[in-house]
Amino acid sequence: MTLLSVEGLTVELPGSARPVLDTVHLRVAAGEVVGLVGESGSGKSVTARSALGLLPARAHVTGRVLVEGKDLVGADAARLREVRTSVASMVFQDPRAGINPVRRIGDFLAEPLRLVKGWSRRQAEARALELLAAVGLPDPPRHLRQYPHQLSGGMLQRVMIAGALAGEPKLLLCDEPTTALDVSTQAEILALLGALQRERGLGMLLITHDIELAAATCDRVYVMYAGRIVEEASAADLFGSPRHPYTRGLLGSTPPLTGPMERLHPVPGAPMSLAESAPGCAFAARCAFAEPGRCDQAPPGLLPLPAAAVPSTAAADPTGSADRRAACFRVAELPAVVTSEVAP
Ligand SMILES: Nc1ncnc2c1ncn2[C@@H]1O[C@H](COP(=O)(O)OP(=O)(O)OP(=O)(O)O)[C@@H](O)[C@H]1O
Ligand SMILES: [Mg+2]
Repeated sequence: MTLLSVEGLTVELPGSARPVLDTVHLRVAAGEVVGLVGESGSGKSVTARSALGLLPARAHVTGRVLVEGKDLVGADAARLREVRTSVASMVFQDPRAGINPVRRIGDFLAEPLRLVKGWSRRQAEARALELLAAVGLPDPPRHLRQYPHQLSGGMLQRVMIAGALAGEPKLLLCDEPTTALDVSTQAEILALLGALQRERGLGMLLITHDIELAAATCDRVYVMYAGRIVEEASAADLFGSPRHPYTRGLLGSTPPLTGPMERLHPVPGAPMSLAESAPGCAFAARCAFAEPGRCDQAPPGLLPLPAAAVPSTAAADPTGSADRRAACFRVAELPAVVTSEVAP
């Protein structure tokens, strides 16, 4: 069952030279972990926030954001409340930014249950204890009485995940949930999210800068550049054989997790700001494969890969090549790559 289906979503802000999101298509099904990868400012958070009806108020929005089949664009307050309390919830990057520092953890978890579900204090506290245990905190009764500053960043992110689970959502939107944490805590939080996702059959959208992390944890991955999806593939295909020049660049600029360290090839240039626009492919100015007179004229659509561009390993695997799309005029002409040779 599709939980979230973003269809041709375009979000324009007054005063910017290009849309924040430009005809974005993305879907997340129940039980599926979907990655959304891209550089800072590419529009990942705005995409995730659209699933909670949290697009900027002054934005001009076209397209649809279907949550369980019903459009959230222009939805009334009652529908938005229903989605935010019992369908979708978000885990943010910095747990300290999302919690009131002068309220106890118990109040943070129990208050929404009392207000939204009308539960008694006792019922809400019992549920808060269950939630703290579910996210692996060692002493739930003590944590209920603690303040945020008494917990480490990793413990507090577990509290935030408990808060996100309180309404028993079907869809968890994780916006860089581990970037503010140290490396070993990052691994623990990712393992916890993975375990909760599998146990509860949640649909999950995992936003990250880290394409290798997405490849290791997700079923499918979308790569975003300057507000557009430029590649969509199963994690195995994306990592094993990236097709869009930007994806190739991202994989070529991250150190390998295993094997010998090779020379890294950073993507040249800088991401496009909202004050800049381009009539053609937004990546053309940084792309080693760009063809003047073609790539800089009109934006390429996000299209299924032509048969010639599907690597033979993926084509041979009936589960591997479904949903492979790329937005690149030259995708069929580019040489196939393996991940250790992604730079042109
Ligand atoms: N409410 C808003 N008002 C004005 N501009 C906004 C608003 N929300 C986002 N933007 C702009 O839209 C663009 C995309 O922002 P977004 O937060 O989605 O990027 P991101 O891919 O999540 O980046 P990061 O990796 O840094 O979190 C940015 O240029 C940002 O400044
Ligand atoms: Mg963001």
